[in-house]
Amino acid sequence: MSRTPFIAANWKMNKTIAEAEAFIQALLPKVGAIGDVDIVVCPPYLALQALVDSARGSSVQIYAQSMHEADSGAFTGEVSAPMLTEIDVQGVLLGHSERRAYDNETDRALQQKVPRALEAGLTPILCVGETEEERERGDTERKLRHQVQEALEKVPAERLPEVVIAYEPIWAIGTGLTATAEQAQEAIAFVRALVEDQDKAAGEAVRILYGGSLKPDNAAELLALPDVDGALVGGASLEPDSFAAIVEAAR
Ligand code: PGA
Repeated sequence: MSRTPFIAANWKMNKTIAEAEAFIQALLPKVGAIGDVDIVVCPPYLALQALVDSARGSSVQIYAQSMHEADSGAFTGEVSAPMLTEIDVQGVLLGHSERRAYDNETDRALQQKVPRALEAGLTPILCVGETEEERERGDTERKLRHQVQEALEKVPAERLPEVVIAYEPIWAIGTGLTATAEQAQEAIAFVRALVEDQDKAAGEAVRILYGGSLKPDNAAELLALPDVDGALVGGASLEPDSFAAIVEAAR
């Protein structure tokens, strides 16, 4: 089964519109014509429109960092799927550990958000991962099983292959600690088996990314692992050269 590699930049709360524009103008000549890797940039909401316009016609896709499950309503500060598709955003990060920790994003809400994104035509990147404490207690698989099963429960089997999953061990995010190749392969193979339990063909087709302190110098080793189909990159995605080097490592 060949799965197209998928490399996504998660900028978090970094870059003004002007800074985002400068980044994309520097990135496009390096990767804008690459056809064998799906390349995604997730800027803050305010820069979405500008980047969608600048990246149009290139191989770089623009995704949002979060989305509410309702289309509209009394949810101050939130953004919905129709608001994202109106400006041609192509996908959305869902369940990032920072949203789960600081904004109380729950597995229950994700159970609505993942199918809602798909219905709207947005590719969801579902983020899952264990804390350091959970890993030490031997609860990694239990946590992953819970997160993956809850979030994918309402996704119809025929649409499961369109979901992208990012395995991000929380202890590796922004810490400079990366999972070892063995830890990443083991956890990601486990996540794939969970999707296979739901639908065999979907498990083989679904792209699963590694995230957590991935950098140009450790990318090649992690991206070569049999079940790792790409990366969700935070810190190392903020510079065009370092992000482009990670895209190259995925080819
Ligand atoms: P990091 O972040 O690469 O800075 O560890 C990854 C993420 O949170 O998606």
